[in-house]
Amino acid sequence: MVINLSEQHNLVSNWVSELRNIDIQGDRMRFRNNLERIAAVIAYEISKTLPWVEQEVTTPLGIHNSKVLQEQPVLATILRAGLPMHTGLLNFFDKADNAFISAYRKHNMDGTFDIELEYISCPSIENRIVIISDPMLATGASLVKTIAAIKQEGEPAQIHIACAIACTVGVEHVVSQAGDEICIWCGDIDDELTAKGYIVPGLGDAGDLAFGTKAQF
Ligand code: URA
Repeated sequence: MVINLSEQHNLVSNWVSELRNIDIQGDRMRFRNNLERIAAVIAYEISKTLPWVEQEVTTPLGIHNSKVLQEQPVLATILRAGLPMHTGLLNFFDKADNAFISAYRKHNMDGTFDIELEYISCPSIENRIVIISDPMLATGASLVKTIAAIKQEGEPAQIHIACAIACTVGVEHVVSQAGDEICIWCGDIDDELTAKGYIVPGLGDAGDLAFGTKAQF
């Protein structure tokens, strides 16, 4: 299932528009804040799909039967671009366990690239609800590798993916590899991808815009 939040006419489309805007992108803090805010809305939307249980709570004046989240999800993110969205999710699911995966594009001489995973820190995800944040779902290759890597730690009950902008081909690739029970939540969807795997019109390099450019290696 794919949910494009911009189709629902809400503030997310405003924030995605600011992320895309070359005249605003120079403000890194605003860029990170917008990613964080989009992730917060996604966290709220995902929370509506999760299991809830009743819990008796004692207030100073009586007893209340509250509904509380049955279990906290595992929040996974792909370094480094995923960090602002991870923060947005963690602000809502504040007792969640966390997983971090470092994935980068290793460019080949022929212009293609492979995704290399270098660092993985992941709790057991057996039968748990996992939310993976990655702001740009472009080719889908890093998400497919990330999902395979974290599945070494168990078979999750559900996988949700939170992204700011997704590309149609990337969504199709993730669904074809990871199964259509996966749920992809995105701020917007673009149709085009460059030969170098950048989303068009997209926004550029989310990691660089959030944290600054990096030396090439
Ligand atoms: N990663 C980005 O930061 N931007 C893209 O367009 C694709 C992948």
